[in-house]
Amino acid sequence: MWRSTIGKKTIVAVTGTILIAYLVLHMVGNLNSLFGPGGGEPRIDWYAEWLRTFGEPLIPYAGVVWAVRAILLGAIVVHIVAVVQLRTRNRAARPAEFPARRIGRSWEARLMMVSGVLLVAFIVFHLLQFTTLTIDVTPLEAGALYANLYNAFQEWYLVAIYLAALVFLGSHLRHAVWSLCQTLGLDSPERNAGIRMGANVLTLVIVLGFALVPILFFTGALGEPPADELSASLTTLGGGS
Ligand code: HEM
Repeated sequence: MWRSTIGKKTIVAVTGTILIAYLVLHMVGNLNSLFGPGGGEPRIDWYAEWLRTFGEPLIPYAGVVWAVRAILLGAIVVHIVAVVQLRTRNRAARPAEFPARRIGRSWEARLMMVSGVLLVAFIVFHLLQFTTLTIDVTPLEAGALYANLYNAFQEWYLVAIYLAALVFLGSHLRHAVWSLCQTLGLDSPERNAGIRMGANVLTLVIVLGFALVPILFFTGALGEPPADELSASLTTLGGGS
């Protein structure tokens, strides 16, 4: 599979499907923040803890989270290596007189490499911010997801970074979904219009689902976190007592 071109394309399609499935789950999980700060514990914080305690005592604490992380990392690495190798192979096989730019391709298709690289850069930034809590330009505290999101999305530039990333994500996904359906042999003249429509709808749902969170925090539609979370996260920055 790995050596043949069609095998590699299939691997790109399958790893892409795994990443899209994760995005759908992540987007739906994030929507828990729309329940707001709650009485004492915001629902998004409860959800994050539920993910970590899932299957206990049979599965160790955060076992499912680490299993998902391992699958995601594997899928991303294999996806990128296969794409780069396919591109190198395509270039080597192209006759010198063949036009470098293929006619009739959508702008999303032409920008796949650019949107892919920008997405990887965003993922690194995103993990350093909300997972490792390293980029703490706004107060961050382990386990206080609602407060972390609330504080981050009071800043216009962080909202802008996230919305810009969602534009690259939309561009990448719209072509990716169409392309993986072709690779997996799902396309046919009668089905193509439906597949294109499905790719557009899925992209729109994912992008809008993610975008709601920063927009609703920034506009004030989602209220302040519970007082203990707010003061705890300010203490980590040395801003409160
Ligand atoms: C507005 C958009 C987004 C918001 C508000 C958001 C929020 C978050 C938060 C709060 C976490 C930490 C979760 C926890 O500690 O339990 C997280 C983790 C993560 N996010 Fe996002 N995210 C967004 C978009 C994205 C996108 C577009 C991607 C991928 C392209 C992505 C990939 C990840 C990954 C890989 C993790 C690490 C999961 C883990 O630690 O196991 N996120 N996100």
